[in-house]
Amino acid sequence: MNKIKIAPSILSADFSAMGAAVEKLELCGADLIHCDVMDGTFVPKITFGADMIAAVHRHTALPLDVHLMIVNPEKHIKTFADAGASYITVHSEACGDNLKNVLKEIRLAGVKAGAVINPDTPLKTVYDCFEYCDMLLVMSVFPGLPGQKFIESVLPKVEEARCIFEKQGLNADIEIDGGINEQNVRRVKDAGANVLVAGNTVFRSTDMKKTIEELRNL
Ligand code: DX5
Ligand code: ZN
Repeated sequence: MNKIKIAPSILSADFSAMGAAVEKLELCGADLIHCDVMDGTFVPKITFGADMIAAVHRHTALPLDVHLMIVNPEKHIKTFADAGASYITVHSEACGDNLKNVLKEIRLAGVKAGAVINPDTPLKTVYDCFEYCDMLLVMSVFPGLPGQKFIESVLPKVEEARCIFEKQGLNADIEIDGGINEQNVRRVKDAGANVLVAGNTVFRSTDMKKTIEELRNL
């Protein structure tokens, strides 16, 4: 079973003190920093671009898990790779038939590649991309906002993906993103997810270290 990794999302951090926020996440035991890039087109919200990734990279040694909620992600791979991304995940809904090529491009840039599927996107949409994935990101909320309610119905997709990976001998990570908390984290891990994104749960906590440990160990 792939190692459980906690990836707090900086979407819920104080943007006026992002450096301190990621330094605190590292001190509190986070495994990855989940960076939600939004372009105001693929999703209505605009967050930040590669300059923020570069700034965060200067404040932590943790791998940066860059989630691109943008149109035409293939145009921006090198920029985010140069900014310090360790993972770049791209939406199947934004790439269409080009998804495989985009994943290959990400790997060619020396970065781990991930495909993302929204809650209403069937897993079969990305069946033929698994061999090009270092990670599959299954959205458990519709992308665009922090603090949304976990969508339970995505769990069968996590279970099916884990089964397929095991059958095909693929050791890709399965990341789940959106509404993860202490109440649902056990079900999410039992389904086969091993990279857990948590923004609201971590940043609203009065004891960030304890919350990260609970998400890892519950
Ligand atoms: C939503 C983002 C998620 C979100 C997770 O569009 O992709 O990463 O910030 O935050 P919580 O844990 O607050 O749902
Ligand atoms: Zn995300």
